[in-house]
Amino acid sequence: MSAEYNPHILGFLCNWCCYTAADSAGVGRYQYPPNLRVIRIMCTGRLDPSFPLEGLANGADGIFVGGCHPGECHYQDGNYHALVSASLVHEMLEKIGISKERFLIDWASAAEGPNFVKIITAFTQRVAELGPLGKAEGKSPEEIRSQLAQAAEAARSRKIRIGLINASREMMKKRDFSRTTISSMVQEKCAKALGELV
Ligand code: FES
Repeated sequence: MSAEYNPHILGFLCNWCCYTAADSAGVGRYQYPPNLRVIRIMCTGRLDPSFPLEGLANGADGIFVGGCHPGECHYQDGNYHALVSASLVHEMLEKIGISKERFLIDWASAAEGPNFVKIITAFTQRVAELGPLGKAEGKSPEEIRSQLAQAAEAARSRKIRIGLINASREMMKKRDFSRTTISSMVQEKCAKALGELV
């Protein structure tokens, strides 16, 4: 990791897999960067798209969401719905000029402590390279906070909620869970609301 910057990373980890993987990595004495602060959620499907935006607005330099592998969610499809929310977060970050690399959603099962370590180490390293939130983006902390707050508010709006529900429905109907397809669906269903973001 870059010695120059020690990033603040906030992680939303699914209770059933990634949280346990992180725990077992600790018990197994696998080393990983101490930058991660964890919020345990029961399933990545619980992730509201406003959470990562608020996390960044409140001091995190990077947000990690860790869940069960596709097809292994304990609530059936929660992680697929999380991909829809994650796609919206990526769209919003891009729209307001924040590096999409500051937000990552990935998977590690409860038995995959070493995989979790690999993922979080690489992510922490990448965020460290980007530097403090705003540096890579050329924005002041005030400007970035205000844009993220606005994006978080938009993410909670009725327009966006309806767009996300429609994107999720289409994803489930087509049974196409590729990130590229989900991203196109979210762009299409939330186009108007995303267009209003500045
Ligand atoms: S229970 Fe782990 S992602 Fe749903």
